[in-house]
Amino acid sequence: MASNNNLAPYICIILSILICITPNNIFCHAAKTSGYTRSTNASADMPAEAFPAPPGFNAPEQVHITQGDCGGRGVIISWVTPYKNDYASIVRYWKACDPKHVFKARSRVYTYSYYNYTSGFIHHATIHKLEHDTKYIYELGHGDSIRQFSFTTPPKPGPNVPYTFGIMGDLGQTYASNSTLGHYMANKKGQAVLFVGDLSYADNWPLHDQRKWDTWGRFTENSAAYQAWIWTAGNHELDVAPEINEYVPFKAYKHRYHVPYKSSGSTSPLWYSIKRGPAHIIVLSSYSAFTKYTAQYNWLEAELKKVNRHETPWLIVMMHAPLYNSDNYHYMEGESMRVIFEPWFVQHKVDLVLAGHVHAYERSVSPRLNYTIVCSISCAKLLSYRQTERISNIQYNITNGQCTPIKDQNAPVYLTVGDGGNIEGLANNFIEPQPSYSAYREASFGHAVLEIKNQTHAFYTWHRNQDHEAVAADSTWFYNRFWFPKDESSL
Ligand SMILES: *[C@@H]1O[C@H](CO)[C@@H](O)[C@H](O)[C@H]1NC(C)=O
Ligand SMILES: *[C@@H]1O[C@H](CO)[C@@H](O)[C@H](O)[C@H]1NC(C)=O
Ligand SMILES: *[C@@H]1O[C@H](CO)[C@@H](O)[C@H](O)[C@H]1NC(C)=O
Ligand SMILES: *[C@@H]1O[C@H](CO)[C@@H](O)[C@H](O)[C@H]1NC(C)=O
Ligand SMILES: *[C@@H]1O[C@H](CO)[C@@H](O)[C@H](O)[C@H]1NC(C)=O
Ligand SMILES: *[C@@H]1O[C@H](CO)[C@@H](O)[C@H](O)[C@H]1NC(C)=O
Ligand SMILES: [Fe+2]
Repeated sequence: MASNNNLAPYICIILSILICITPNNIFCHAAKTSGYTRSTNASADMPAEAFPAPPGFNAPEQVHITQGDCGGRGVIISWVTPYKNDYASIVRYWKACDPKHVFKARSRVYTYSYYNYTSGFIHHATIHKLEHDTKYIYELGHGDSIRQFSFTTPPKPGPNVPYTFGIMGDLGQTYASNSTLGHYMANKKGQAVLFVGDLSYADNWPLHDQRKWDTWGRFTENSAAYQAWIWTAGNHELDVAPEINEYVPFKAYKHRYHVPYKSSGSTSPLWYSIKRGPAHIIVLSSYSAFTKYTAQYNWLEAELKKVNRHETPWLIVMMHAPLYNSDNYHYMEGESMRVIFEPWFVQHKVDLVLAGHVHAYERSVSPRLNYTIVCSISCAKLLSYRQTERISNIQYNITNGQCTPIKDQNAPVYLTVGDGGNIEGLANNFIEPQPSYSAYREASFGHAVLEIKNQTHAFYTWHRNQDHEAVAADSTWFYNRFWFPKDESSL
């Protein structure tokens, strides 16, 4: 037994070397960029009939929730009704274990017009002073249209509270989108969704068909009515169309998706922060001004100083356009934000930078594999593995010309999860050779799950739609930069 184990690493290394020196080198090449490439045919939108309005007079629909305050004791409940009346605005809620004590809250109601479309009545009710880590039931509607949902509040922010986030982006409403959401929901582990932007893709339709926002709200309700989705605005939320006199950016998005921006001192719903369990989450806007002296820049500078890693060890930043990505689609669209914000991300030891936009999956940073462990499972894993280090490019300035990213132990891990499955199809044109900052990239639809275990360790998996949900196409441990600043290449 013992001698077998001792030999295992050598056999594996020899095996992989042998394969790597075969003349055409195909196995080593496949190791860097996953060979799973899918049809580039844009997936078709599901028909509106797949999402009928719920039954009953003035039934509440498109129900979704998000965090409603800074620390997780508030929830914003949002829904749409065809008409406005007293009943339509009321949400009743109670602790699941205490159904006799029913509380009530009243929504604020909004409508908007877009070209010749007029929205239904969009309700947002913020409820406060909930108990942490507690299941609540809530009820909307009246008479034969009553609908009941539930959610569980996050645990009180603290260093060693485990919490699991799903990560999705660029979802749209195609059959592929449905597969992504279905897989995420089948996973059951996710307690809240970090959504990295590009929601309905209404703007891909003639006159930015706003009815697509309604069908998207109905489509995502299965998940978003039961767990908080943390929203980031993408380019498809801009919805500007001068040719039909629609000049106001983010009109539909801002009316339909409210976020608790004021509680983090932000002046805009497009950038804000929350604390949820062990994580301090900062949401940024790739499509709002962010250079020096702008509101977003000033807010972020102050916000990063407020982060308390003793309370929330994990610091996560979300935006739509990735800062590090090696796909030819949208290449370097996040570069201007990288130039301005990357030095702060390194200085403040941000753990993860999440983005979407590119319709594929990509991850930077892989720890070194322990060959003893790997070979006891499968030597084949070595062939699909590549070690990459944390890097930054903050030394670059225009005069020194030092434009190649260099190893930097304080740098975050970068994830692009723009692979929700929208109508535009996959971005399957990667830059060759694969840059040193890219550990894994694949043009397939899917979603990711981040399981924060404690203040030092988080386990991360990415799931492609073609696999059974239990299969992780990509997985790795992430080590907290503040509490466990180990060099992955020496672990
Ligand atoms: C892609 O679309 C074309 C044209 O609609 C069709 O002929 C082809 O079979 C499709 N390919 C796949 C793999 O679905
Ligand atoms: C809006 O205009 C389009 C194009 O003229 C038309 O097809 C559609 O029926 C109109 N919708 C409404 C609600 O009037
Ligand atoms: C969407 O996926 C669910 C399973 O997750 C399935 O029941 C439903 O029929 C799908 N909807 C459409 C329109 O394909
Ligand atoms: C690799 O894993 C084995 C088995 O768990 C352990 O004994 C060994 O110390 C590890 N090696 C390194 C370098 O961490
Ligand atoms: C640019 O970088 C070089 C070397 O890294 C440094 O000496 C120089 O002062 C920098 N230029 C400016 C304007 O900061
Ligand atoms: C944190 O979690 C990791 C992974 O589960 C575990 O190995 C480690 O011992 C934990 N640390 C503490 C302090 O519990
Ligand atoms: Fe996008």
